[in-house]
Amino acid sequence: ILLMITAGSGVDEIISQLTCYLEKGDIIIDGGNSHYSDTERRMSALKSAGLGYIGAGISGGEQGALLGASIMVGGTKKCFKAVRETLEAIAAADDKKKYCKHFGPGGVGHFIKMVHNGIEYGILQAIGEAYLLLNQGLRLSNVECASVFDSWQRGPLNSYLIGITADILKKEEELGGLLIEFIDDSADQSGTGRWMVTEAMALGVPVPCISEAVSVRSLSRNRKARKDIAKLEWETCTNLDSNLDEIHSSLLATFWCCLAQGFSVLSTGNKVHGWPNKEAEIAQVWQQGCIIRSNLLNDIYQSYIKNPDLNHLFSCQDIHTCLVKELGGLRNVVSSAIRSGLPVPAMASAINYTDALKTERLWTALIQAQRNYFGAHKYRRTDREGSFHTHWAEGSG
Ligand code: 6PG
Repeated sequence: ILLMITAGSGVDEIISQLTCYLEKGDIIIDGGNSHYSDTERRMSALKSAGLGYIGAGISGGEQGALLGASIMVGGTKKCFKAVRETLEAIAAADDKKKYCKHFGPGGVGHFIKMVHNGIEYGILQAIGEAYLLLNQGLRLSNVECASVFDSWQRGPLNSYLIGITADILKKEEELGGLLIEFIDDSADQSGTGRWMVTEAMALGVPVPCISEAVSVRSLSRNRKARKDIAKLEWETCTNLDSNLDEIHSSLLATFWCCLAQGFSVLSTGNKVHGWPNKEAEIAQVWQQGCIIRSNLLNDIYQSYIKNPDLNHLFSCQDIHTCLVKELGGLRNVVSSAIRSGLPVPAMASAINYTDALKTERLWTALIQAQRNYFGAHKYRRTDREGSFHTHWAEGSG
């Protein structure tokens, strides 16, 4: 039985209504966006009743339902064997393969889907910022913005989300004008992006672009405060001093950062939960059917094929080569956007994330020392093994 319902208590309710009709060996597949820990709880509860349970992350929206989705499966090998054919029948496919994969036991399928959605938040935010820069910074009309996205679709940014952005921006309203002009400027969220950020924080993995995306969606919903604050007098800002190529670079570099942050969560999550190391396969299953499908995922796939233990995507030489070409543009766009008062939170965090990663000595020695000064938390040294404590001044610990 395949359930496709909104995550949360509804899933538990349906399961409890169903179980009296089920026999030992029957399998329930949860294809919704459930939290992976709920999936694990349900899986073990049903196991004791002799029922199988699969947590399948399914991505692709309405188009995926019609044309084939990307399916990330978690559960026992035995259950997957039993449902494989059914799931593959609704998965995206090409001549060579089906975009449905088993990633291991427990809630791993839903964990991967959660990370997929976190990346989706980051990429949507980055595209939104590029649109703002084109539309309000370079003063291109919506139709002109649509043709820019159309042209970007023919290059390295080629992806489902860039494609739909171009379609959206040229969609005409029945009574005249463009539909985008009539859509309220505030976006909802169902929770998977927030879960991804919470999980990343718990795993100690930085995901700044994605957490910015989640935060500014919340900011967008605060319509009253935004309206009141917008009415106040603010300093005059300069015009955006950037060009199309630089905005393209900014968007591409921010895509890379969102993907790198997502894959870092996957790698750490796999280790912590004891799931198999399958980053290459994840990059592969995301190449068709899902919302974040893009050309870049093929580069990521190749990187993990070359080095399955890759520590971070940016330490892969090929990806570094792609990223480094875009950083000048990203840097210029972010600084110029900030001077012109155009908010670019995901892009700004992308350059900060990259700069922090590539700076050999940050500010953290000082933070270690401060923690030791006020809290007697031990610090590590560069010249000796072990942990140390210093009496810094009269009154310190
Ligand atoms: C997918 C989508 C899908 C859904 C998101 C929307 O992969 O098909 O990600 O799962 O559209 O959950 O999430 P928000 O409502 O939080 O934006």
